[in-house]
Amino acid sequence: MGEAVFAHDGIYAQNEGMPLMHKRPGEGLDRQAGRLTLVLENAPVIMFGLDKAGRFIFSEGNGLAAMGLRSGQTIGVSITDLYRENSAAVEAIREALAGRHTSFESFFSGAHFITRLTPLFDPAGQVHEVVGVSVDIGEQVRAEEALSERDEQLRQSQKMEAVGQLAGGIAHDFNNLLTAIIGYSDLLLENKDCSSESVRGDVEEIRRAAERAAGLTRQILAFSRRQAMQPEATSLNELLTETEPLLRRTLGEEMDLDLVLEPELGLVEVDRSQMVQVIMNLAINARDAMPGGGRLTLETADLELSGGFPGATTDPTLRPHIMLRVSDTGVGMDEQTVAHIFEPFFTTKGPGEGTGLGLSTVYGIVRQSGGDIFVESAPGMGTTFRIYFPRLDLSADDVPPVVVPPSLAAAHEVILVVEDEATVRDLVTRVLSDEGYIVIAARDGAQALALLNDPARSIDLVLTDVVLPGRLQGDVLVQRASALRPGLPVLLMSGHPRHLIKFGRGLETGVNYLQKPFNPSSLSRKVREVLDTAAGR
Ligand SMILES: Nc1ncnc2c1ncn2[C@@H]1O[C@H](COP(=O)(O)OP(=O)(O)OP(=O)(O)O)[C@@H](O)[C@H]1O
Ligand SMILES: [Mg+2]
Repeated sequence: MGEAVFAHDGIYAQNEGMPLMHKRPGEGLDRQAGRLTLVLENAPVIMFGLDKAGRFIFSEGNGLAAMGLRSGQTIGVSITDLYRENSAAVEAIREALAGRHTSFESFFSGAHFITRLTPLFDPAGQVHEVVGVSVDIGEQVRAEEALSERDEQLRQSQKMEAVGQLAGGIAHDFNNLLTAIIGYSDLLLENKDCSSESVRGDVEEIRRAAERAAGLTRQILAFSRRQAMQPEATSLNELLTETEPLLRRTLGEEMDLDLVLEPELGLVEVDRSQMVQVIMNLAINARDAMPGGGRLTLETADLELSGGFPGATTDPTLRPHIMLRVSDTGVGMDEQTVAHIFEPFFTTKGPGEGTGLGLSTVYGIVRQSGGDIFVESAPGMGTTFRIYFPRLDLSADDVPPVVVPPSLAAAHEVILVVEDEATVRDLVTRVLSDEGYIVIAARDGAQALALLNDPARSIDLVLTDVVLPGRLQGDVLVQRASALRPGLPVLLMSGHPRHLIKFGRGLETGVNYLQKPFNPSSLSRKVREVLDTAAGR
């Protein structure tokens, strides 16, 4: 690019090297000047010249509009007056007038200008004029910010995914062990021979500890987003109203609770008991953050959001969402804390006070339900969680009432139990036989298939683990069983997270599911329920 010079006749021009401004052979000076003016007026920038006192001698360019100015409107005005409030700009202008190349930034309603100042010298080496070019980089900055925010979100979700997989795997093994511990404790407690109070007390302790451990594995599974879900069309308003008494008890006297419910709220598809868990975990955290009392506000709203959720700017399509906002007036969090709160086992609470699983559970449940969660907080400023779920295309009247039919049948059916873990198999066999069922046990899929293949054998229900040794896994066994014996009810049991994905969210209809660890009574209940449903009772 050519160097700016100050022409003798007082017209500012570029020298050789800038073709647009270069005089073409045979072209008059008028044509050339006209083209130059056109370029200046339409450039998405501001170009200006200042005399040595810092007064505008010209100002051109499209960018002026962002400052609410027209071409040439500032001529004669002192630039320092224009930038009075911007001390960095005033300093840069002073330096440019003293002969140095400088630049400064300025902001005008959404525009973010970078202005470069170039002093021009007369033959005596004195500053004769300063030329300036301002470029609006507002759009560019906003685009970069959006991009880096998305990168950060992606990084965060990949990290959570990895931790989730690890945690889910561990939870699976624990579930098998806990099923056995809880089951055998229950059997001991039911045993007439075990009448000694002190022994009973000890067994009850074992059982309670195992229940606590089961609670922890449930939370980990929830976080790893592989918990069995029973999503239903749900009104968050109703759910909040139902949970209100529990919330009040949890918060205690010193805290105010506000429910701000949007009257015409649409429905979302969530697992209700998991949603209660989400609300309670957030409320307990809020309570802990407000030791001297305060206010917890739960608010619902119906929104149209683009690209799924706020922050995602790639997809401009508007989609209906339901928002649940949970805000407290507590101590708030610094940036460091906010960056880690959804990670499992991250806690700022003392030993025995927090496990750091509350928010990771919340995160897992929300994400598994197709939602997203955002947090805003600052020290001393309280904390606000916003949760978004896609809105269901249903009105509240479309939701069928839940009817739980009473169990009428006495246990007499034949159940094929397929489980490779001996402790779990023996336990299940024992519990079901005690109920009066006839139990046939198989160690793997092949054994089970042989039994199903035998037409002489009557079987009323297959109860199978999802993970089986050998090639014939639980899901394949289910398919084979229903091909061999159409209509035969199947109940899957698993503590293993991965399979829940294969069987889909909330499991396909017709496939029943029992999450490990279970206790003898929930096993009996589920078996009865599946048999009754199959029999049309
Ligand atoms: N409403 C809130 N206000 C201030 N800090 C919060 C709030 N909610 C969460 N935190 C911070 O996030 C951390 C993690 O929360 P999380 O619920 O996952 O675990 P926890 O409450 O420490 O333990 P747990 O919930 O397992 O008993 C907390 O220790 C606390 O520092
Ligand atoms: Mg918590």
